[in-house]
Amino acid sequence: MQSSEPEVKKIIVKLGKRSYPIFIGNNLLNNAGLFKNYINSKQVMVVTNETIAPLYLDRIIHCLSDLVVESIILPDGEEYKTLEIMNTIITKLLQQRFSRNSCLIALGGGVVGDITGFAAACYQRGIDYIQVPTTVLAQVDSSVGGKTAVNHILGKNMIGAFHQPRAVIADISVLATLDNRELRAGLAEVIKYGLIHDKKFFTWLEQNIVRLLNREYDALCFAIDCSCRNKAEIVAKDEKESGIRALLNLGHTFGHAIETGLCYRDWLHGEAVATGMLMSADLSCRHGWITDDDIARIRKILNTAELPVKLPQGLNSERMLELMSVDKKTRNGILNLVLLKGIGNAIVTDQYDSEKLLETLMHFSAVQEVA
Ligand code: NAD
Ligand code: GLY
Repeated sequence: MQSSEPEVKKIIVKLGKRSYPIFIGNNLLNNAGLFKNYINSKQVMVVTNETIAPLYLDRIIHCLSDLVVESIILPDGEEYKTLEIMNTIITKLLQQRFSRNSCLIALGGGVVGDITGFAAACYQRGIDYIQVPTTVLAQVDSSVGGKTAVNHILGKNMIGAFHQPRAVIADISVLATLDNRELRAGLAEVIKYGLIHDKKFFTWLEQNIVRLLNREYDALCFAIDCSCRNKAEIVAKDEKESGIRALLNLGHTFGHAIETGLCYRDWLHGEAVATGMLMSADLSCRHGWITDDDIARIRKILNTAELPVKLPQGLNSERMLELMSVDKKTRNGILNLVLLKGIGNAIVTDQYDSEKLLETLMHFSAVQEVA
C-alpha cells in the first residue's frame, strides 16, 4: 500500500436532519479534528474487539486525548453479536454514568459496528455514535445506512433498529492488517453494487479485481468510494427499506440462510453473500432474465476473488428453504427475492417460479467442484 497522503473523499448520506458524511482516506484515525466535529460531549466510549484493540485503540484514544475516553473490548466473532454482549456495553455506559449527549465510537468490522450502533440506538432511547469501519465489508456496507442489529439463534440480525451514525470515518490504511480471507469477503459486497445498480462499476471490477486483491491504494479507494456512493444514493431514497433499499440484499436471502444454518461459524458473511449472489443469478437465468454469459462473468469474478460458489456441506435444499422462510423480506408468508434482470439491474420480486427456486437450491447443493 502507498504511504503518501492523498485527498480525503467525502460523500454525504442525504437524510434531512439525519444527514451525515462518509470520509474515505489514509491515516484518518489520527485526524482529531475530523472526529471532534461529530462529538458533542466530553464522554466518549470506544467499542472494539480483542483483535482490533491492540492494533488501533491507542491511536483513537491518543487522537481524542482531551476528552474522557472509555473503551470496551468485546470478544471477536459473529457468534458474539448477541443481546447478552450488547448488554455488557449498556452496563458499562451505566457504570460510567454516560449521559444522553455522550457518543459511542464503533472501531471495527461489521460485527462491532452493528452491535455498537444498536447499543447507541437503545441507550437512553438513542445516543450518538460514529462508525470507524476497519474491514472492507464494513467500509462499503455495514457502516453506512444506519442498520444496527444483533443476531438471534433463530435468525440473523433479527433484533435491531434503524439508527444513523453521526459520521463514518473509513481509514483505508487500517486495511493493511486485514487478512486475505476477510479482504476477499469484503470484495463480495463491492461486487454486489456492480450487480445491483452499476454495470460500469461491475466492468471496472472485472478489470481491476486483481489490483484490489493486491491492496493497491488507488484501486481500493476508488472501489470503496464508488460502493459508498451507490449505497448512499439508495439509502437516501429509502432509509427504512420500504422499497428500493431491499435491492442491497442481493444474495442475502440465500446468504443469511447459509450463515444461520452454520450457526454463524465457518463461513464469513461476505462468503455467504458471494454464493447467495451466484444463486440469485442462477435463479434469474432459469427465468430467462439474464444470460449464461452473465452467469459466467459473475462466476469468474467470484472465482478470481476466491469466494465460495456452492453451498456448504450439510445444507440441502430442504433445510435452505426452511431457513430462508424467516427472511425479513417475507411479506404475508411470501418470500421476496432480489433477482437480476441483467448485470446492473436488480429487482425485488415475489414473481418467481418456486419450482425453479427448488432447482437452484438443488443445483447448488449438488455442485461439488468450483467450476
Ligand atoms: P467482522 O466484524 O467479524 O470482522 C472480520 C474479522 O476481521 C474479525 O475477526 C475482526 O476482528 C477482524 N478485523 C477487523 N478489522 C481488522 C483490521 N483492520 N485488521 C485486522 N483484523 C481486523 O466482519 P465484517 O465482515 O466486517 O462484518 C460482518 C458483519 O456485518 C455481519 O454481522 C453482518 O451481518 C454485518 N453487516 C451489516 C450490514 C448493515 O447494513 N448493518 C451490512 C452488511 C453486513
Ligand atoms: N446491507 C443492506 C442494507 O444496508 O440495507
